[in-house]
Formats: sequence, C-alpha cells, structure tokens
Amino acid sequence: MATPLRDMSGECWAARGVGRFGPLCHGLTRIEKQTFARTAGDCLCGGQTGIASGVNATSETAMTQKTALVTGAARGIGLATTRLFIEQGWRVAMVDRDGDELASVAKGINEASPFVCDVSHPDEVEQMVSDVRASFGRIDAVVNNAGVADFGPIADTDFARWRRVMETNLDGVFLVSQACIPSLKETRGALLNIASISGLRASTLRVAYGTSKAAVIHLTKQQAAELGEYGIRANCVCPGPVRTKLAMAVHSQEIIDAYHDAIPLNRYGSENEIAEVITFLCSEKASYVTGQVVASDGGFDSTGVGLPALRS
Ligand SMILES: NC(=O)c1ccc[n+]([C@@H]2O[C@H](COP(=O)([O-])OP(=O)(O)OC[C@H]3O[C@@H](n4cnc5c(N)ncnc54)[C@H](O)[C@@H]3O)[C@@H](O)[C@H]2O)c1
Repeated sequence: MATPLRDMSGECWAARGVGRFGPLCHGLTRIEKQTFARTAGDCLCGGQTGIASGVNATSETAMTQKTALVTGAARGIGLATTRLFIEQGWRVAMVDRDGDELASVAKGINEASPFVCDVSHPDEVEQMVSDVRASFGRIDAVVNNAGVADFGPIADTDFARWRRVMETNLDGVFLVSQACIPSLKETRGALLNIASISGLRASTLRVAYGTSKAAVIHLTKQQAAELGEYGIRANCVCPGPVRTKLAMAVHSQEIIDAYHDAIPLNRYGSENEIAEVITFLCSEKASYVTGQVVASDGGFDSTGVGLPALRS
C-alpha cells in the first residue's frame, strides 16, 4: 500500500484533488470513482498509483507517442505550449507549483496530466520526474519554462530577493534538466530552455532577472556541447514581451509604450507565437539544430540603435 502523497505542509495531496499522479479519486462519489478507474487506473489514495491522462505507461500508445514535460504549464506561455504540443500529437506532463490553477486548467485538457512541483526544490524535482516516467513511460522533450520576474534597482536587491529569482529561473532549469537527462538519452530528446530578451540585452531593474536569464542562455550552450554525443539537443528561446500575468505584474503603461517604440514589429507577442518556436525546436524538424538561442521578440534584439527619436 502506498501512502497518500503529502506536500510540505503535510496536507494530503489527494484531498486537494490533485497529486503527483494527476487528479486522484479520493473524495469522489462511487460513480465518479468508477469513471476515474476506467480512465485512469487505480486510486493512489487507495494504495496504488493512478494517472489522469488515461494513457498507461505500458500501453502501446505510450511506447510510441511523444511526451513533453513542460514546467510553468498552469498559465501563460507554458499553457499555450502545452496546448500546441497536444495539437501536434504529443502528450504533455504539465508541471507547476500552483496546484489549484494547474488542476483547474489540466481538467479540460486530454492527453495531459498535472504534476505539482516547485522546480527550485531538488527533492520535489526528482520525485516529479520519476512520477512522470511512471505515468508516461518516456520523455522526449523538456521545456524549462517556469519563471518569476521581480524587477528592482540594484541598491534594493538584497540576497533574499536575488535568490528568489535565481532559485526558479536558474536553479530550476538546472535541476529539471539534470533529472531528465537519463530519459532524454533513451529518446535522443530535446531540452528547451526559456530565457528572455532581458538575458540578451541589459536593462535597468533587472539585475537578478536579466542575470538569471543570461545564465540560462549559457547553460543551454553548455548542455548542447556536452549532451550532443547522446543525441540530445539543447536550445533556448528568448521571448520578447507577452501580456501574461508575469509580465503585467512588472510592466507599467510607460514600459508598454516604450516596448512598442523599441520593437520593430511595434507590438507585444502572443503566448502562441512563442509556443510555435518552442515546439518547432523540440520537433524532428529541428533535428540538426542545437546550442541555438532564438529570440522571438518582434525584432527587439536585432535593433542596436532603437531610439524613438530616430524613427520617422
Ligand atoms: N511574459 C513575458 O513577457 C516574458 C518575456 C520574456 C521571458 N518570459 C519567460 O517566459 C516564461 C513563462 O513566463 P509567463 O510570462 O508565461 O509567466 P506566468 O507567470 O504567466 O507563468 C509562469 C508559471 O510558472 C509557474 N512557476 C513559477 N515559479 C515556479 C516554480 N518555482 N516551480 C514551478 N512552477 C513555477 C507559475 O506558477 C506560473 O504558472 C518565464 O520563464 C519568463 O521569465 C516571459
């Protein structure tokens, strides 16, 4: 008998309707349990692990259908990427630390299962990757997308603030990648790390955020250099501004106007425009592309002298 999973607070994961194996049948009616059992296998809280996607690791589908692990999948760019992978015939392990939001969006997505995990915690990452393997049987692509933005002047950035940004944006990418390498060796799969235009061009207020993203760009190159011999590709996407919760928390109207001025396409990007680049780089179509940094940014990075005064 397996013990029901508990999070750091000691609360039973099953009681919240979401666990490392996806929604669990704890607390459901008999009819709901029967439906769950038909689609997901046995109940974890009854002692055995269950999965939400209805795809069993030992089934034929699981052996052939590609699986992407996407972090920060509960909303924004990660959610758009999840949806696009599924449209393209993949299954997705949706990873996020926001269990409530993750459970609510994952409910409506076939071919995906939610996994609650904080990517900055090594133990949680190890457990999550092992659970994804148990549920899906394989991992073909890892999208390290979970990120936090905290903008502030250098003088106001104390060590705690610096670490809060680094632990998710840099440590998280390192930890999830490391834990997935054995699986990616088996599939000759792909790592895809999300950095930012803030990692390509320095700017004010981004001492922690910009530095974390610049480090992700270099980490990607390190991964490409060392993992190529196993057939593993590693690439990096640097989004320009996209109107997600993360961006809107730090973009004032003044910043939005300034971005429009500085971006040749004169607009923000959409989550889906970023997802298209991510899924392409993870696909066979990019089979000879590794170690690359692609800005999906409306041309922001390409314009050295972008002064509004120089515009007609
Ligand atoms: N939106 C933009 O303008 C923009 C621009 C450049 C780069 N990015 C990068 O794109 C990525 C996605 O950003 P978004 O705009 O979709 O943000 P978002 O805030 O909408 O989504 C981020 C998701 O990551 C999750 N998350 C955060 N920390 C986590 C952790 N430690 N463990 C697990 N999950 C965690 C959040 O719960 C959330 O669901 C980030 O890495 C961000 O830095 C975004």
